[in-house]
Amino acid sequence: MQFDFRNKIILITGGTRGIGKQVADDLYSLGATVLITGTNPKEVKTLNEAAEKGSKKKIYFAVDFLKPESVNQFLKEVKKYNRIDGLVNNAGINRLNPIQNAQVSDWDDMLNVNLTSPFLLLNAISPIMIQNGYGRIVNISSIFGVISKEKRSVYSATKFGIHGLTVGCSNDLARYNVLVNTVSPGFVLTDLTKKNLTKTEMATLSEIIPIKRMAETKDISNVVVFLLSNLNHYLTGQNIVVDGGYTNV
Ligand SMILES: NC(=O)c1ccc[n+]([C@@H]2O[C@H](COP(=O)([O-])OP(=O)(O)OC[C@H]3O[C@@H](n4cnc5c(N)ncnc54)[C@H](OP(=O)(O)O)[C@@H]3O)[C@@H](O)[C@H]2O)c1
Repeated sequence: MQFDFRNKIILITGGTRGIGKQVADDLYSLGATVLITGTNPKEVKTLNEAAEKGSKKKIYFAVDFLKPESVNQFLKEVKKYNRIDGLVNNAGINRLNPIQNAQVSDWDDMLNVNLTSPFLLLNAISPIMIQNGYGRIVNISSIFGVISKEKRSVYSATKFGIHGLTVGCSNDLARYNVLVNTVSPGFVLTDLTKKNLTKTEMATLSEIIPIKRMAETKDISNVVVFLLSNLNHYLTGQNIVVDGGYTNV
């Protein structure tokens, strides 16, 4: 049993750092061609220049899911592909606030990046996958799409929502051999976490997590890679919670 991603083309949103970068790097090392999005056009240009000197199997796109023009341009680019085998809706933002202080602009932004952009990509890419009779899609949610905590009401609304999108799409697409699943990470050591938790909070959390440590990006990527792979042929519409056991205590 071996993963085989040769000849597979996989799009990962938010693949310039954190979990998305790990997934993109792992798929690339397994032979996939990876289409990767980031928000910073300068960084994307530099990354594309570096990729062109190598195997040309990493292609970066600049897209900001908060800017409708940028999103429309990106969707046009995506629709030019006549094959996309995998999609990872990973880009996400989390602005913390108790509900009484939450701003409508934060609601709009989190909804746009965390939920509307996955919808738009599913809508644009599923016809390509249906046409080819093959597709594997992973939507990245969170433990806060299963439970929640203070200051996470808006984030949780988007992350509970994305699994609803997974379940609905899995029903629409299974007959075409297009499988759709959610991966819900626990606390992962990325920029997003370091911004939202103090060092003391991270140490306390590590004690509570049954596995006694926070996740590395690799812990999440391994599961995403399996769901995208040729070894997954019967798992769809599920939410895989990768949290070291945290939501059970
Ligand atoms: N870290 C955790 O502990 C954790 C736990 C549970 C779930 N998650 C989820 O896992 C996913 C990845 O999280 P992460 O921790 O790896 O995040 P991260 O390190 O902050 O990276 C976020 C990625 O999303 C992109 N992004 C941010 N705003 C965007 C926008 N407006 N338009 C398009 N792309 C945008 C970023 O692009 P740039 O690099 O260009 O800014 C970056 O590539 C998110 O959906 C998050 O909610 C994370």
